[in-house]
Amino acid sequence: MLVAFYPNLAKCDVAENWQINFQDSATPIMEGIINLHHDLMFFICVVLIFVTWMLVRTLWHFEYRQNIVPSSLTHGTLIEVIWTTTPALILLIVAIPSFSLLYAMDEIISPAITIKTLGHQWYWSYEYSDYTNESDEPIVFDSYMIPEDELELGQLRLLEVDNHVVVPLNTHIRIVVSAADVLHSWAVPSLGIKCDAIPGRLNQTSMFVKREGLYYGQCSEICGINHGFMPIVVEAVTLPNYVTWIYNKLSN
Ligand code: CUA
Repeated sequence: MLVAFYPNLAKCDVAENWQINFQDSATPIMEGIINLHHDLMFFICVVLIFVTWMLVRTLWHFEYRQNIVPSSLTHGTLIEVIWTTTPALILLIVAIPSFSLLYAMDEIISPAITIKTLGHQWYWSYEYSDYTNESDEPIVFDSYMIPEDELELGQLRLLEVDNHVVVPLNTHIRIVVSAADVLHSWAVPSLGIKCDAIPGRLNQTSMFVKREGLYYGQCSEICGINHGFMPIVVEAVTLPNYVTWIYNKLSN
C-alpha cells in the first residue's frame, strides 16, 4: 500500500520475518499473480461470510429449544438449483482471469536471451549460451550459497550466493531449467517464477524484469540434506551494465 504512494520506497524482494503477504513484483507475470490473488480474495470473502451466516442461522433455527416441532421439509427444487448453479457460476467467473494468467505465464515471447540453469546437489549452475569467447566456449558458472561464517555486514543469511544471475532490464528472457542429479525447483518470488528442475528434461519459463534490483529465491523442491542451502540471486541491471558484465565474463 505504501509503495503506491511512495514509488521510491524500498521494495520487498526477499522474504521478511513474519511476512504474510507477497513480495513486491518485478515482472508483469508477478503483477498478474498478485492481481489474481486479490480478485480471488473478493470471492473468498463473500463466500466465507455467506456460508458462515447460513451455518449460524441453521444452528440457531434448528436448535431444539427454538423449534420444538421440526419442519418436515426435506427438499425443494428451486433452492437446490440455486445452490448448485451459484457455485458453478462463481467458478466460471474465477476461471476467466485464471486461465488468461495461466496462458500468459506459458507464453515465451521471442526471447532476446536464453539462460540455462541446472540444479545440482546442492548448488545451481548457469549457462549463457548466446555468447561465446574466441575458443567458442559459452559463459558457464556455478552459484554457491555464502556460508554463515563468511557473510559480510548487510548480507542475508542463507540467501546470498557467490555468483549472481545477471540479467538486463526490460528484455524478454527465456530460462531453461533442468537438473543434473535429483529434482530441484528454481523459484524467485518477485519474478513470479517457480519452475521444476527435472533430470533428463528441459523446462522453460520466461521473465521480463521491470526494475533494477537483487531478487532472492530458493530451491523449492526437497532435494536432500542441503535443500535449504542452495539459494538463487538474480541481479537485474541496465543494458550497458549487462553488456559490460558479459564482456568481463567472456574475457576471463
Ligand atoms: Cu535443490 Cu531443493
